[in-house]
Parts: sequence; C-alpha cells; structure tokens
Amino acid sequence: MYNYMLSRHCFLLTICLKPRRIAPTAVCSVSCYTGPDADPQLRERRGANKNQVTKRRRKERPSCQPVLDNFDQQYSQELGDLWPSARAVLLDPYSWQYGVMLNRFSAVTGITQILQSQGFSTLLPQNSVSPLLCNDFSTISNSKHQAGKDSPFPPDYISKFPPNDFPLQPESSSHVLPQDLKSEPSLSLPRSTLQCYIHPYPLRFPSQAHRPGQLKQYYLLNAASLLPVLALNVTDGEKVLDLCSAPGGKALAIMQCATPALLCCNEPDPHRRDWLSKTLESFLPPSLTSRVTVSAQDGCSFGQSETGEYDKVLVDAPCSNDRSWLYSSSSQQGEQRLKERARLPALQAQLLRSALTAVRPGGVVVYSTCTLSSSENYAVVDSVLNDCPEAEPEDLWEEIAVPLSKYFTFSHAHPDLDTPQKPSLRPLNGSSSSNPRRLGILVVPQPGRTWGPMFLSRIRRRK
Ligand SMILES: C[S@@+](CC[C@H](N)C(=O)[O-])C[C@H]1O[C@@H](n2cnc3c(N)ncnc32)[C@H](O)[C@@H]1O
Repeated sequence: MYNYMLSRHCFLLTICLKPRRIAPTAVCSVSCYTGPDADPQLRERRGANKNQVTKRRRKERPSCQPVLDNFDQQYSQELGDLWPSARAVLLDPYSWQYGVMLNRFSAVTGITQILQSQGFSTLLPQNSVSPLLCNDFSTISNSKHQAGKDSPFPPDYISKFPPNDFPLQPESSSHVLPQDLKSEPSLSLPRSTLQCYIHPYPLRFPSQAHRPGQLKQYYLLNAASLLPVLALNVTDGEKVLDLCSAPGGKALAIMQCATPALLCCNEPDPHRRDWLSKTLESFLPPSLTSRVTVSAQDGCSFGQSETGEYDKVLVDAPCSNDRSWLYSSSSQQGEQRLKERARLPALQAQLLRSALTAVRPGGVVVYSTCTLSSSENYAVVDSVLNDCPEAEPEDLWEEIAVPLSKYFTFSHAHPDLDTPQKPSLRPLNGSSSSNPRRLGILVVPQPGRTWGPMFLSRIRRRK
C-alpha cells in the first residue's frame, strides 16, 4: 500500500547511481507543492513498475501557454525585475531544489552523515535532539544509527562509495550559488529541533519507501514551506490548529519544532485527508496519537464551532499553485484554473477570518500560500485586517527574512508600491496597515535559490 512512496529519486539512485535531471510533473490544482513527498502523482503511481516510472520521467512536459501568458502579464507588474528570473526558474524544473526535513522521532544519525558527505548543510541553527526524546518516541523505529543501516540507499552502497567518494556530485556549475551557503546558519534565528538539510545545487535525495513497523526518517519538501511554521513558533504544550492540513508537510514540521498539547489537523477533502492520515502515521510515533488529531470540517466555519480554542492557527490556504499550474496537462485545464482563480481570494479571506475566530485573544494566526499572486497574498490579509480591528499584523522581515536572506530571496513590498526590493512606508489605499512590510513576506524563486513561491503573514489577535 505504500508502493507510491517509492520515489523516482530512490529508483534513480538505485539503478543509475548518478544524479539525474527529473522531468516536471503536474501536481494538484489548488494546493501547495512541497516536494516529492507531497506529490500526489506519486500516489497515482502505486503499482507502477520501475520501468514505467522511468519512461514517465524521461518525457518532458511543456509549460501551459495560457497560464504562462497570464503570469507574464500579472507578475511582471507585481514583481518587476524579479519576474524574468523567477519565470526562468519556474520554467526549469531541473533547477528546483528540495530540502530534507529529518524526523526527530526516528533514528536519523546515519542519514545526517550521508547528507553531509554529499554536501548538504543545515538550514537552521540546530538545537540537538535529546536522545531520551528520540528513544521515548521511536518505539517502532530502528535503533541502529549507522550509515547504511538506516539509509535509503542499497545495502552495499555506502561501502562501495565511502563518504568522500560519493558518486553524486553537482550536475552543473552554471547555477548561481547563494554566497557562503556552506557557512554556519545565521545565529539570529532561535535554535530549533527542526532539522532541514539543503544542497546548493538541485541535487535530489531519494524519497523513503515505507518500512513496515518503522517511522520514516525524513520528508522531502520545498524548504520555503518551513517558513510559515517558523513564523508560527509553536512551543510545548500549546493548542494548535492546522486549518488546511493535507498532505501534512507543515503539520510534520510543527511536530519537529515542539510537542504541542494538541495539534488538530483539519482537511475537508476525503482523499487528501486519507493522504494526511498516512503521512502522520508514517512519521509520528503511536505515543503521540492522542495529541495529533485529524478533523474534516470546512475551514470556513471552523472558527464558529471552536471559538477562541487555539493558541496558534496555521492557514496554509488553497491557492493558485504557480509551479503546478504552469504544467497543467492541457490548455483547457490551464484556462479552467485561471477562471477559478478569481474565486480564491474570497475563500482565502473566509478561511483567515475563521482562523482569527478560532484563535484565543493574544494568540497568533499565520496565513500562507504558495503563489506569487498579490491578490491571494497581501490583498487577502489587507481585506481581513480592514474588518477585523482586533487583529494586528506582525512584521516578519527582521525575524525571518533577514536571518534567512542568504538562502531565500524575499520580496516585501505591495505591488502598488514602489519596486519589490524597496520597502515603502506609504499606506495601502487607506487600509488598516501603515507599513506594507508588515502584511507579509514573499519568497520569490531565483536562480540558485529556487525555493518558493511562498507568502507568509503573521497576525495576532489582540482581544
Ligand atoms: C496548500 S494545501 C495545504 C498543504 C499542507 N498545509 C501541507 O503543508 O502539506 C491546501 C489544503 O486546503 C484544503 N482546503 C480546500 N478548501 C478548504 C476549506 N474550505 N477548508 C479547509 N481546507 C480546505 C485543500 O484540500 C488542501 O489540502
């Protein structure tokens, strides 16, 4: 039943033992593409044999012209100079990077060695995971820590290729590298038990197949997906709601950061909820099941049923998924998506309002999307703040963007104001915010830093 988890990367490493460029695949329409572990097409590949998978991978999928035309028109206005290079990244899936988020509930030492030997380094300042914590939780995980035993690679792989002789080398040196990527992560961020490894090149680590009775050791994702979780800053004992939760990447990240008293993962779509449950089951130990629940409500009405119940709420809203939409399977599908796009801001605003009702006075809501579109980002936050006087946006620029600016390219200005790179202090059309930077920050994919798109905004409910 977990055959679909056998990733293209695992297969490539097993068979070819050399890095490969992977052809783009389309993913779900209004959801967040967080990486191979979050790719619904992998689910559809259940039962596909390796040769079938290879054939599909080799077939390049062209981008969808109506979507590209629409993006060109909108994003050249909204992003200015950043758009041509963001466009180039979005149109070159071979340049896309993936982060490897380790699972602190599983034994990860061997994986860490392998990652480091391949040139991966940690994105965040590390707070060591207490062995006691690991032992407590990893009741069904393998306690052997040696590289090769816990590794996703074939058994003789490590001995054939000792760490300094790994066959996986960067494919090309043409990508612009973030400066001093290999140096220590910024110390301005608090130390975290959330461990994510990234590589300066688009090198893919294999997804991990299901191992009966054992927790998965890592989850592959777009590293920008971690930023909303960092902004949420969950601490032990808090009650947390993940309002739009499937497939569960951010819920897993929350559980890497802290042990909340409750994490309610809400997902109304039955198919996606099933996927969410499987993700949680594959990464979290049974001892946590009473703290992590799955619910099936319409997020728009969640706040009415559980008013003021939560310390923290994440709204990782359904949105136009820029990466995925560019690879719509046909022009008609692309056009249909663009038509439906107009309805998204109203849904997103409803979800955000509902979240602000579900959070307790003094608590915080993080709103995020994986689109560059300002009408689903700044405009949604702005409209909700306009009729929610008890909600106050918090500035994430110093807290998140500045310390992580060597890994991600951030934009913070509203499109109506100045250029994206230059913050403006002018008010937004008479809106409640006097500083557009405070409405949120946007990760814009750029060559060598292909993470994103990801918009995030943090709002505190005052009373
Ligand atoms: C961007 S995805 C969430 C990704 C997820 N947070 C993660 O990190 O893996 C948005 C999710 O919102 C769900 N959704 C759509 N409409 C919703 C609604 N009215 N209430 C709650 N969730 C909804 C979608 O089914 C989808 O799974």
